[in-house]
Amino acid sequence: MMAATDLVPRVENAAYVVDLANNENLMGPSPLAIEAIQREAAQVYRYPDIDGTPLLDALAEHYETETEHFMLGNGSNELIDLIARQWARPGTEVIVPSPSFLPYGSASQRAGAKIIRTGLRDWHFDLDAVVDMICEKTSLIILGNPNNPTGTEIDRGTLEHWLATIPEDILVVLDEAYAEYSSDQGLGLALLKQRENLIVLRTFSKAYGLAGLRIGYAIGSPDLIRIVQSQRQQFNVNRLAHTAALAALKDQDYLLRVLGNNVVFKRILYAGLSDLRIAHVPSFTNFILLYCGYALATSEALKTYRLLVKPLERFGLHEFIRVTIGPPETIERLLIALKEIQSEQSWFPVSECPVSVPKQPCSGEKLWRY
Ligand SMILES: Cc1ncc(COP(=O)(O)O)c(C=O)c1O
Repeated sequence: MMAATDLVPRVENAAYVVDLANNENLMGPSPLAIEAIQREAAQVYRYPDIDGTPLLDALAEHYETETEHFMLGNGSNELIDLIARQWARPGTEVIVPSPSFLPYGSASQRAGAKIIRTGLRDWHFDLDAVVDMICEKTSLIILGNPNNPTGTEIDRGTLEHWLATIPEDILVVLDEAYAEYSSDQGLGLALLKQRENLIVLRTFSKAYGLAGLRIGYAIGSPDLIRIVQSQRQQFNVNRLAHTAALAALKDQDYLLRVLGNNVVFKRILYAGLSDLRIAHVPSFTNFILLYCGYALATSEALKTYRLLVKPLERFGLHEFIRVTIGPPETIERLLIALKEIQSEQSWFPVSECPVSVPKQPCSGEKLWRY
């Protein structure tokens, strides 16, 4: 029987840069996906299947539903963009609980809508504040669950109850980019059974390790999927992405090992952070929010250790960095570097013992309109 850590991660030697800034799966994709790409390489003179039908069929089988409920995108980023073009038109308002994945706001703003941001309560979206901000102009609400950059998730009961209070003419988008890592992998699908006006987004970029190929998918009613499809260019997803995603989806054993490893790696990281008394937000993803006192200075200091992390000042979290959870060698490098920075820099706090969840800086009120 294979232990969770038996997967050999491709970890860079300490002399090289380790990029922990983008929430990628540092174990990489399934070897079967890599083999499939190699086999398909000679076929790239041909256009891809226009809809990616073999993959749509495989997704339908995987989720035990019909193919018409799915469409593919050039990453879920493209799907966010396509949805915004249709539902975030000038004159409309889009509610984006924040801090969250930045393209929700930027895509909606590009499409012409006014963005309404609501804040957090105990590191979770303040869903009551979202309801308070609904008006006759509200056309779209975009929610990341689990959320990037907080790594927190909202439980099924809370979301079900909240969704029931959202008027049916407002489209709700639930971005489940990190669903595989979460505590409730079937959440989006279950909610789709309860509400028509909902689109769930998923991606092969995170747990499936295919970020560089750009492939994600939307799940929704056939009518909604048709509307989103009408916005896309033909051949929006390339041939190698189709092939690799199909192979990755079929290799659920590998996915389970990735997820098992992430649990083990997270445990090792939590223990190290507790030893150093670095406050952090418990994560339901493959990344974690760390309280470091001064995000930009910490990320700059970590670069001298050849470690790249995400400072979160653009999210309004000036005292926090976000770090991808990697294999033990990576965690060790990170912890050694953090320990040295913490001992040398007065702005890097040593939290109380036992380490508590850091106080989140945003109120539960509406944050800003622009
Ligand atoms: C919450 C969230 N949604 C979507 C994406 C983008 O995924 P994709 O690579 O499928 O465009 C990311 C990537 O970081 C993310 O964090």
